Amino acid sequence: MVMDAKGDFNEQVWNEETYDAWVERFGTPNAAGMKLKNNPETKLYPILQYFGDVKGKKIMNLMGSNGVKAVALSLLGAEAAVIDISQGNAKYAKELAVEAGVAIKYIVSDVLDIPKEERKPQYDIVFAELGIVHYFTDLKPFFETAFSLLKNGGRFVFRDFHPISTKLISSRGSTAKVRKHKVDGDYFDTTLEEKEVSYAKYLPEGIVNDTRIVHWRRWTLGEVVTAVAQAGLTIKLLQEEPNLSSEVFDKGIPKTYTIVADKILG
Ligand SMILES: C[S@@+](CC[C@H](N)C(=O)[O-])C[C@H]1O[C@@H](n2cnc3c(N)ncnc32)[C@H](O)[C@@H]1O
Repeated sequence: MVMDAKGDFNEQVWNEETYDAWVERFGTPNAAGMKLKNNPETKLYPILQYFGDVKGKKIMNLMGSNGVKAVALSLLGAEAAVIDISQGNAKYAKELAVEAGVAIKYIVSDVLDIPKEERKPQYDIVFAELGIVHYFTDLKPFFETAFSLLKNGGRFVFRDFHPISTKLISSRGSTAKVRKHKVDGDYFDTTLEEKEVSYAKYLPEGIVNDTRIVHWRRWTLGEVVTAVAQAGLTIKLLQEEPNLSSEVFDKGIPKTYTIVADKILG
C-alpha cells in the first residue's frame, strides 16, 4: 500500500542511506543525544503548544523519521512511539534514544499497513509533521489510521507545508532583499511528480543512486481539511503559519499550517 503506481519502490528508497544522512546532518547519535537532552522543547516548536502537558501521555509520531521528536517527548516525560518505513531511520532513532537516556518504541512499517496488534485506540496524542501527505495518492487511509490509533478524547496534530508555497508560488533569491516570487503554479494540479528523496542533500558528495526518487502528489488545503473531517475527527483549529524562522524572509507568505483535531465519540 505504498502510495504510487510503482508499488513498493518508495519503501526501498527509504531503507537506503538514511542513517548516514542523519549522521551528516545532526552528528552521531551520541552528539545529537547530548544536545537534545539540554533542550528538548526546541525540537517540538511550535506543535508542543497543542499537546498540553505531555508527562505520562502516550504519543505516536506517524512517519517520525530519525526519532528526534519522539526522543524529545520522552525526555519531557511522555511515552513516545514512532511508525516509519525506514530501517535506517529506526537505527538512528534507537541509538539516539539510548544516548539521550530514554526509551522510545519504534515500529518499522508502512503507515498505511501497520501490524494489526498495533492498530488499536491506545494513544492520547497522534501527530505527524513536515513532509507527510504528498506521499499519498489517497488521503483517506492515512487520516483513518490516525483516527484508529487515538483513544476517545485523544488529539490529532497535523502540520505540513502550505500548498500556497508548495503548489502556487515559486521563489528565487537567497536573501530577503533580493527574493522574488512568481505566481506561476497550478494550485489545483493533481499530477504525480518524481522527486529526489528529502535527505539526499545531506548525503556525502559522490553518492549517486537512482533509487533516491520518490513520487509526490501535492494536496490543496481544502482537500486535507476535508479528509481529516471525513476520517471522523473534529477539527478544532487550522492555523496557517508564516516563516517561523525569520520575520523578514518570505514575510506575508503562508509557509506551513497546523490542524488540531480531536477524536470525540458519542
Ligand atoms: C520528510 S520525512 C517527515 C519529517 C519528520 N516527520 C520530521 O518531523 O522530521 C518523511 C518520513 O516518512 C517516512 N515514510 C515515507 N513513506 C512512508 C510510509 N508509507 N509509511 C511510513 N513511513 C513513511 C520516511 O521514512 C520519512 O522518515
